Amino acid sequence: MNILVIGNGGREHALAWKLAYSPRVEQIFVSPGNGGTDGKWQIANGKWQNTPDAKFAIRNSQFAIDFVVVGPEAPLADGIVDTLQAAGVRCFGPTRAAARLEASKAFAKEFMARHGIPTARAAVFTAYEPALAYLRRAETPIVIKASGLAAGKGVILPETPAAAAAALRDIMIERQFGAAGDEVLIEERLTGPEVSLLAFCDGRTVAPMPPAQDHKRVFDGDRGPNTGGMGAYAPAPIAPPALVEELTAAVLQPTVDGMAAEGTPYVGVLYAGMMLTPAGPRVLEFNCRFGDPETQVILPLLDSDLLDVLKACVDGALDRAEVRWRAGAAATVVAASAGYPGSYGKGREITGLEDAAARPGVTVFHAGTRRRDDGRLVTDGGRVLAVTGAGADLRAALDRAYAGMQCVHFEGMHYRHDIGAKS
Ligand code: AMP
Ligand code: GLY
Repeated sequence: MNILVIGNGGREHALAWKLAYSPRVEQIFVSPGNGGTDGKWQIANGKWQNTPDAKFAIRNSQFAIDFVVVGPEAPLADGIVDTLQAAGVRCFGPTRAAARLEASKAFAKEFMARHGIPTARAAVFTAYEPALAYLRRAETPIVIKASGLAAGKGVILPETPAAAAAALRDIMIERQFGAAGDEVLIEERLTGPEVSLLAFCDGRTVAPMPPAQDHKRVFDGDRGPNTGGMGAYAPAPIAPPALVEELTAAVLQPTVDGMAAEGTPYVGVLYAGMMLTPAGPRVLEFNCRFGDPETQVILPLLDSDLLDVLKACVDGALDRAEVRWRAGAAATVVAASAGYPGSYGKGREITGLEDAAARPGVTVFHAGTRRRDDGRLVTDGGRVLAVTGAGADLRAALDRAYAGMQCVHFEGMHYRHDIGAKS
């Protein structure tokens, strides 16, 4: 089979990497891809290559695409799955209606209320004045969220009432996030450790993945601004198997059941970002896709054939599929460009990746990288690459990831030194 993976991050490199192990996969096209999925240069098993335009690849019979896997949320929210299905192309991911669980935090909040799924209490506003009045009356610390997609930046945790009012104004009047801020949630602020639980879903059946923990702040000790994610590990000891079972029963299964009951069955990866509060687990957000960088630690732990699992989801046959996980753990560390998550330069030469990848248990996943015509690999984004270590336990996985990272160099490179430290 020929597969098309849509996206250009570390997540998509990890998807292509794992799919390449499937004996039935002939070729994997990644669109637009990155320096790591660029088949002209890659040294792996020769199955994958970049293709500049996904639409062209799907329409053009010479590519003979049999199956599409969508990485990021934006095309899912735009309805790429609906479009492809209507054209007879098999595609892994939720429909536009199902992707609202991520694309509209207001929809997700009201959905959770309808189905008794535990989540932070929130009020939804479409106008500034009532939102401001509500804010003034609020007695507890709050969180302000733009309802729509805002590339991970739409959640504000204001430290003072003045900062809260300013954030509300930025979102609703200045339209800092554009239409994503036309609806706003004002949510109670919760405390506790966070865990990401992702699951394969076929519209009915839910197959949870090992729980993961992400590190969203840019600097050690959870300081500095939020990023797309600076590192992750799995399985997270904070969520032992009994808790995963409980979260599946309390959150994942009722979500999939509720979506089916409402006529918008959920097929794809459902990602629940949760906080384990003293009063019990609460959903903070849903994502409608694999996480980045969670995928870079979850897929190395998958023992089953990824293509079989994804196809079972699309065919509504997940209950009959085998989803086996390996013992042990995986950890990933993200190397970022100087200045990220603010503005940063591009085009810095990257060295040492072969040395890193040659170490036992180490895999390098590219994100913001590009191959120049002279064959040199250069930086091309904020999050440049992720080094994943896999091992018998979390300690071994972390040691391997950091030993791998020590081989890698580019000007201005920075990464967190405390991934997994809290565990
Ligand atoms: P979200 O994109 O909704 O997951 O929010 C991003 C981050 O903001 C989360 O990972 C939490 O660290 C934080 N956050 C979101 N909602 C809340 C909340 N209700 N209480 C405390 N922290 C929150
Ligand atoms: N790592 C967080 C996300 O993928 O949304």
